[in-house]
Amino acid sequence: MNILILGGGGREHSLAWAVMQNPKCDKLIVAPGNAGIAQIATCAALDIEDGGAVVAFAEENAIDFVIIGPEAPLAAGVADRLRDAGLLVFGPSAAAARLEASKSFTKEICDAAKAPTAEYGHFTDAAAARAHVSAKGAPIVVKADGLAAGKGVIVAMTEAEALAAIDDMFGGAFGGAGAEVVIEEFMEGEEASFFVLCDGETVLPIGTAQDHKRVGEGDTGPNTGGMGAYSPAPVLSADIAEKALDRIVRPTMAEMARRGMPYQGVLYVGLMIRDGEPRLVEYNVRFGDPECQVLMMRLGAQAMDLMHAAAEGRLSEARVNWADDHAMTVVMAAQGYPGSYEKGSVIGGLDDLPETSFAMCFHAGTDERDGRIVATGGRVLNLTARGDSLAQARARAYEMVHALDWPEGFCRGDIGWRELERS
Ligand code: AMP
Ligand code: GLY
Repeated sequence: MNILILGGGGREHSLAWAVMQNPKCDKLIVAPGNAGIAQIATCAALDIEDGGAVVAFAEENAIDFVIIGPEAPLAAGVADRLRDAGLLVFGPSAAAARLEASKSFTKEICDAAKAPTAEYGHFTDAAAARAHVSAKGAPIVVKADGLAAGKGVIVAMTEAEALAAIDDMFGGAFGGAGAEVVIEEFMEGEEASFFVLCDGETVLPIGTAQDHKRVGEGDTGPNTGGMGAYSPAPVLSADIAEKALDRIVRPTMAEMARRGMPYQGVLYVGLMIRDGEPRLVEYNVRFGDPECQVLMMRLGAQAMDLMHAAAEGRLSEARVNWADDHAMTVVMAAQGYPGSYEKGSVIGGLDDLPETSFAMCFHAGTDERDGRIVATGGRVLNLTARGDSLAQARARAYEMVHALDWPEGFCRGDIGWRELERS
């Protein structure tokens, strides 16, 4: 099979790594890719949000199967364009991708599906939104309705913060994404992510994970795209996973099918767990980054068969071969991230890192210049390892961190702390 993966971050490097291990893969192209991906696959420059360009590229390169990594091309309808052209695709339609691209749409679906989630109000003008906050009080959560690159959610501990967020959003701080606002009840509990594949009908769980969103140790400081993750997330026990499937995921999928927009792809189910009960925080219509890296490390080559089965509507026949293992990924970021940071610093020590089914360095934001690997993004590398225990996975991941020679980079030293303290 000739495969095309769209995207160029750590998520896509791990997807490419898993796909390359599968003997059914004859040729792999990743667009745009990055310097790490270029070491295992062909990279191609392509505007991945331009459906017409992606279709033409796939046809020219005799592609049999397209895997879409990030949300932007999904929201832009690239999966629809590919399917219209007769290509096999892993990833939801633009209509179904609204489960991530519109918070109010997701709330409406949850209402119809009776899925437990935070109570909410949906507002199109600032005065009504402000009145709602005054009536409900803090803590309260203010969300820009549309895609805002992970920055459109303000968890306001005071009413003043919530009112300021409303003014910012209606004032255009998030562009079109903030023209509508969802205001939610603040949910307490512990967050964990549940990943399931869907083929429009059947739902297949493929793993759980927890990430660390804050930049600083002890989960402090500003939010980031994620500074590390581990899988499984024992807090999301089999019992809680079953409740989440029964009450949240399957009713959502049934409601989407009923509305004529069956969901096909991976569904990232963000849950808040309290007293053994899961409630939905959010859906994403793609793998998490860096959660994908730990899932791929654990699933290996079978990940491609599972995605292929989802795309072909064969999930009812698919099985996951679970290993009783643990994986961790530690993100190395450029000093300054998530604020401003320098680009172009040279990363040393990469050649000495292991490249095995137990330890891999996935590249997130790198480029090759004159034979050297340089940092080009905020999050730059994902040191990812697997072991019999989380402690063993952790030791292997940090061994790679210490082998690197990159003074311009940093990482959190405490990825997995919550779970390691518990175990
Ligand atoms: P979202 O983009 O919806 O995932 O929101 C980003 C983060 O904000 C989540 O991962 C949670 O940590 C937090 N969050 C979102 N909604 C709520 C809520 N209703 N209650 C508490 N925290 C929330
Ligand atoms: N790591 C969080 C996300 O991918 O949205």
